[in-house]
Amino acid sequence: MTEQPVPAQQSETAPAGDHQPIKQRKNGLYPAVSDELAAHMRGGWADTELRGLEPLPQAAETARRRAALSRRFPGERLVVPAGNLRTRSNDTEYPFRAGTEYAYLTGDQTEDGVLVLEPAADGGHEAVLHVLPRSDRENGEFWLDGQGELWVGRRYSLSENERRLGLPCRDVRKAAGELAESAGPVRLVRGHDAGLEEALAGRLDPARDEELRVFLSELRLVKDAFEIGELQKAVDSTVRGFEDVVKVLDRAEATSERYIEGTFFLRARVEGNDVGYGSICAAGPHATTLHWVRNDGPVRSGELLLLDAGVETHTLYTADVTRTLPVNGRFTDLQRKIYDAVYEAQEAGIAAVRPGAKYRDFHDAAQRVLAERLVEWGLVEGPVERVLELGLQRRWTLHGTGHMLGMDVHDCALARTETYVDGTLEPGMCLTVEPGLYFQADDLTVPEEYRGIGVRIEDDILVTEDGNRNLSAALPRASAEVESWMARLKG
Ligand code: GLY
Ligand code: MN
Ligand code: MN
Repeated sequence: MTEQPVPAQQSETAPAGDHQPIKQRKNGLYPAVSDELAAHMRGGWADTELRGLEPLPQAAETARRRAALSRRFPGERLVVPAGNLRTRSNDTEYPFRAGTEYAYLTGDQTEDGVLVLEPAADGGHEAVLHVLPRSDRENGEFWLDGQGELWVGRRYSLSENERRLGLPCRDVRKAAGELAESAGPVRLVRGHDAGLEEALAGRLDPARDEELRVFLSELRLVKDAFEIGELQKAVDSTVRGFEDVVKVLDRAEATSERYIEGTFFLRARVEGNDVGYGSICAAGPHATTLHWVRNDGPVRSGELLLLDAGVETHTLYTADVTRTLPVNGRFTDLQRKIYDAVYEAQEAGIAAVRPGAKYRDFHDAAQRVLAERLVEWGLVEGPVERVLELGLQRRWTLHGTGHMLGMDVHDCALARTETYVDGTLEPGMCLTVEPGLYFQADDLTVPEEYRGIGVRIEDDILVTEDGNRNLSAALPRASAEVESWMARLKG
């Protein structure tokens, strides 16, 4: 929540050339400025109201989602915050990323926003969006406040937002007080807005709030046509980002994994909002660390690069794709043997994705292939059934074979076991299939030549009416195709 702008009270003036909003200098109090300057700043500004704004493309979908939410919790006030800016250090903040639930239900992404579903007399709800309005010119907020528009850029006016989002909009600075004084049951999506949680502290019940988040997680399990289009955009940008990386592998060899991270990030920022998660740019033995995001190691010819990265679109849908590439463009015999086993496991996993299949099927199919290969290579004693029953292959397969994908990389994470992990696949679900084999550098149970090799192949798979569609099929997967693709790109 944003505090009320505070009128000028201090006498200190900002030293010439001090590039800070004045507010941040004195505990939220604006320093006094001369009456003449205040008057000079107040007037003489053009009317910039944007008339004729079109609704967002997803406005009909967000209304449908709010209606589903309303039906689930009749008679209760539901509060879904966007979240607030978070301090990185002193007076600098992390880039803002709106809470998934808020963006899913409104299409809006601005900090401090709060969606409230007010119970209505007919048993439904009236949805109201509380957002920051344009900065006030009368009290000087627009130039004196650190979040004033002169500092951070123009916001949409309340009426502009009403047209964009198809929701009545009010000034968010009154929302906490109004909610605290309201009567009746309230549920809040927690974890985004500490100020609201504090304001409603006496009114909230953690278990009931959790039910709200669980419902919103499950509502996102099946993607609508707009979402599928956005996921495909995210994947398409990601494919271009992977191509960018292959083209600069020589420069990464001359520097470090950071060159790969920066290269992919450039594509994510130019075409999308951001990366959907910290890029994993893991060369050599770093590929055996599942979430290697330090990305500060060397990139060496003869070794593998495991790149796990995804562009997040402007609407906050992310891809999640992994390719494991030979840095010099050619797999060694052992790298190819391990890579081909993971590829075969992924093929088996993808083949198990279809409507009506159990969610666990694709994991089981991939694990079986990997267990077979591990037994065949003499790394674990068979038979395969025993290995699978005892889970012995997991020393080298380490993680589950996939997860739901959407606005969060690990989407729908709060969905109940019966609707997700123990559930059944339906058309419109989108998930990753990402088996891997990881031989740690210090794993004395495998021959020395295996140590330090990690391979993961990850694609984004949409469940269709009659099977599945690989959204990331444009990126080659089979080892020979990866090699010829790299040769083409490296020129
Ligand atoms: N990028 C994280 C994952 O693959 O789940
Ligand atoms: Mn991934
Ligand atoms: Mn993944």
